[in-house]
Amino acid sequence: MDVEKAPGKHCPEKKGGGSEALKKEILELKKLRNAVILAHYYQREEIQELADYIGDSLALAQIASRLDAPVIVLCGVHFMGETAKILCPDKTVLVPDITAGCSLADSCHAEDLKKFIESHPGHTVISYVNTSAAVKALTDVVVTSSNARKIVDSFPKEEKIIFGPDRNLGNYINSVTGRQMVLWDGACHVHEQFSVEKLVEMKREMPDAVVLAHPECPKPLVMLADVVGSTAALLDYARKSDKKKFIVATESGILHEMRKSCPDKEFIPLPPSDSTCGCNECSFMKLNTLEKLRDCLRDMNPAVEVDSEVAHLARLPIDRMLAMS
Ligand code: 13P
Ligand code: SF4
Repeated sequence: MDVEKAPGKHCPEKKGGGSEALKKEILELKKLRNAVILAHYYQREEIQELADYIGDSLALAQIASRLDAPVIVLCGVHFMGETAKILCPDKTVLVPDITAGCSLADSCHAEDLKKFIESHPGHTVISYVNTSAAVKALTDVVVTSSNARKIVDSFPKEEKIIFGPDRNLGNYINSVTGRQMVLWDGACHVHEQFSVEKLVEMKREMPDAVVLAHPECPKPLVMLADVVGSTAALLDYARKSDKKKFIVATESGILHEMRKSCPDKEFIPLPPSDSTCGCNECSFMKLNTLEKLRDCLRDMNPAVEVDSEVAHLARLPIDRMLAMS
């Protein structure tokens, strides 16, 4: 899906929705279907509250790979559902809104990556998990923002590496590992939107605040951050820190869990450049609603399907990642 076609904005700073009756209906259907609900930290807070597990991309893949339940509801975007389906081909994997795409995954098409790989012979291909199954099928090892550094570091210094599709994460990993990986020129439209000017201003106004940034943010922003990490790493840092104020430069859905687990601390979202409400949100992630969650459990649809040959090829680099994490 193109960024221009991204669905309309929903302000995650507005309090969560859903009647008690609807939540009860979802829990009953979940029991009836023997389903497990997994949710990413960028989901609407009412979905995070109902989920059995919440986590970052790595945790969701790890949990999916270990589950016994026959039905997984992946409240996230399409590539997350695909990853779960590849890991659990015999299970039904539902995504409440199957059209929930990802601008970063869409910035790298398999046929274009294939040509790119052919023009760089002898390179190992490392792909971010935010990719289609077809791209993963062309990949040697998949990474998430939680394990990218560790996995890249596990290769010899002289290894020639193609890294994609996120140029910002790639640049960050190059800088911390001293590598010169060849980077695919893709990005996430949410993290690209953050305003460096506003961050400079906020740091001046709140010199005691710790700046937490996701590595999908562009370099000027990452250079101003105190801590750079995946959603889970930023949350973990906030939980363990004795500091009381944090400026958060990642999708604002993470604020829910941060505020919930650290009620005595203040979390201030860094606004995007075109901000009207101060939030920076992924409208794809917000496509999933409690109503759609209820409907998918009731209808057992929409279910993620992955071509079996593609799934077979994509499984290997995901398994390598899980083994190396
Ligand atoms: P993590 O939760 O793995 O840090 O990923 C962020 C992201 O962009 C998911 O789409
Ligand atoms: Fe994709 Fe960015 Fe949304 Fe994550 S936040 S799902 S990378 S568009």
